[in-house]
Amino acid sequence: MNYQPPLVVGHAKSTKIVIVGAGSVGVTTAYALLLSGLAAEIVLIDIDKNRALGEVMDLSHAAHYAQAKIRVGEYVDCAGAAAVIITAGVNQKPGQTRLDLVQTNHALFENIVPQIVQNAPDTILIVATNPVDVLTYSAWKISGFPVQRVIGSGTSMDTTRFRHELGRHFGVSPRSVHAVIVGEHGDSQLPVWSLATISGMRLQDYCGQAGIDYAHNDMEECARKTREAAYEIIQRKGKTNYGVASVLVSIIEPIITNGDAIMTVSRVGTYAGVENVSLSMPCKLNRDGAHQDVPLLLNASEQEALRKSALSIKEAIMSVEK
Ligand code: 2OP
Repeated sequence: MNYQPPLVVGHAKSTKIVIVGAGSVGVTTAYALLLSGLAAEIVLIDIDKNRALGEVMDLSHAAHYAQAKIRVGEYVDCAGAAAVIITAGVNQKPGQTRLDLVQTNHALFENIVPQIVQNAPDTILIVATNPVDVLTYSAWKISGFPVQRVIGSGTSMDTTRFRHELGRHFGVSPRSVHAVIVGEHGDSQLPVWSLATISGMRLQDYCGQAGIDYAHNDMEECARKTREAAYEIIQRKGKTNYGVASVLVSIIEPIITNGDAIMTVSRVGTYAGVENVSLSMPCKLNRDGAHQDVPLLLNASEQEALRKSALSIKEAIMSVEK
């Protein structure tokens, strides 16, 4: 039989991804990305070069198995990157909201983003630093990039947590639950109950068919656990890192593979009549960035909740806008 070359699905083996920030989210993302096999080269940038080098030394021993290169870099190394993930910034302390971090992390972005843009004018920026919606707006404004090339991890994390909670409640895999959290990655987020389905059935219908009680209070509890998950984790271990790192790799994947996956990510736009704000709605992700081709059909109370969420983010944006 003739030799058949292995099928290369979608992504170029030269793909470089830069991660700015070697804190726990940055390095866990580097590790997850390394093991995913999606990137040929990962560059870690941090103001504390010694720490970054220690992390890279450790990660390079994992890279031995993953066959990707990982190294410490400077902003000049952003040149040619398919995406630059920004994780740098101060983290929430127990009791703080994400919005409490806005002044410090916005000031940091005023320093970081121009250096990325100068070296990688065609890249895609992926923002993970909190408050992620406000900073996605900051990154868009500072970079001058088109909206589709500035993507916040947004409620992709909350959507994952929500599907996890609903899956546990109903005894099915989270992959079999279709439900999204939209709006702010924060306290004003909203679950879109009107469009939530399991096995193609609305939740009440699924319960009817499966002989399970549908209780409104249980659903509210799933939404509360989703909204408060990060607070509880931070209270217990001081930070969150594994969940968000995995979500960042899921955002990177369709960008690298031109995969057209639909995810709830943050993007600048007009939402529920509020202009120039960044928040999460389902977006199609591919090599050109995040596209909002398919707007959600929200009911009236969801529209109202989305408007409140947009106004709360807008207020934080205006607190840092000059
Ligand atoms: C998270 O939700 C803290 O925003 C971070 O895990």
